[in-house]
Amino acid sequence: MIVICNNAAFSTEAERLAEKLSLPLENDLDPRLIDYETYALVFDDVGLGLQALGQKVPGIIRADFVSGSVNHRRQFGGGKGQLIAKAVGLKSAFRPFVLDATAGLGKDAFVLATLGCRVQMHERNPVVHALLEHGLKSARQAALELGDTELITALALMTLMPIDSLSYLQQDLAKGAEDTPDVIYLDPMFPERQKAASVKKEMKAFHEVVGEDNDAEQLLTLALANVNYRVLVKRPRKAPTIDQRTPSYQMEGKAARYDIYTLKKMP
Ligand SMILES: C[S@@+](CC[C@H](N)C(=O)[O-])C[C@H]1O[C@@H](n2cnc3c(N)ncnc32)[C@H](O)[C@@H]1O
Repeated sequence: MIVICNNAAFSTEAERLAEKLSLPLENDLDPRLIDYETYALVFDDVGLGLQALGQKVPGIIRADFVSGSVNHRRQFGGGKGQLIAKAVGLKSAFRPFVLDATAGLGKDAFVLATLGCRVQMHERNPVVHALLEHGLKSARQAALELGDTELITALALMTLMPIDSLSYLQQDLAKGAEDTPDVIYLDPMFPERQKAASVKKEMKAFHEVVGEDNDAEQLLTLALANVNYRVLVKRPRKAPTIDQRTPSYQMEGKAARYDIYTLKKMP
C-alpha cells in the first residue's frame, strides 16, 4: 500500500496520512503505471479513495455521502420502510442510540443517521478508517456549502472512532465509561464465495485490504452482554448465523439477511 497525492490541495493531508500509516508517499503519479504495489490511497480531484493499481483496474472506492448511491438512497430509498429500519426496530418515535461496531465505509450507519438515530461508528482497519474519516469530513463541508439541512443533521448524528469494538466492549463500556448502546449493529466480513472476477469491486478490495473478520463470534458475545435492547447482525442471505446462534428472528432482503437478537422490547 502507498499514498499518492495527485491534488496539491490535499498535500498536507496526504503527508499526515502517509506518516500516520507509515506508508510511502508519492506525488503526481498515474496509478495505472504502478506495478510494485496492489493498492494505493489516492488523493485526486474529488478527495481520498482506495485504488487498485495497474492496467485495467476497477474504479476508485470512496466513502461518499453526498453523491452516488448512498445519497440517492437517502432521498429516494424508502425511509422507515427500509429493511434495515425495520430490523433496528424503528416503529414508534423512539430513536435508538446505535453502536455500529463494524463501520466499514459507513453506508449502513448513514442510513440509520438519516432516519434520526445517533450512531457511534468503530473501524479498526486504518485504511478503511482513513477513507471513512475523509468521507465524513468532506460531506460535512459539502453539506454546509449546499445548505442541505437534512444532510447536515444526519452527519451530526454520526461519530467515528478508530478502535476495535472488541476492546471497547470489553474495557471501556464494561467499566461504565460510556453510554450503553440501545442497539449494536454488526456487519463483519464474511469469507468470499463468488469467483473473484464476478465480485463487486468494493467487495473485492475489502477482501484484499481488510481480509476476514475471524473474531465475529466473540464480538457477538460481547455485544449481547453490553446492549440495552437488541443486536442486529447483517449476513449474506444464505450464510450460517454467527457461531450457529439462533436469533430471535430473521429478516431477509434481496442481497442480505438480518439476524436479530432481542433482549428487551424497545419503547
Ligand atoms: C463488511 S464491512 C462493513 C460495511 C458497513 N456496514 C457499510 O455499510 O459500509 C466490515 C468492517 O468492519 C470492520 N471490523 C470488523 N470487526 C471489527 C471490530 N471488532 N472493531 C472495529 N471494526 C471492525 C472491518 O475492518 C471492516 O472494515
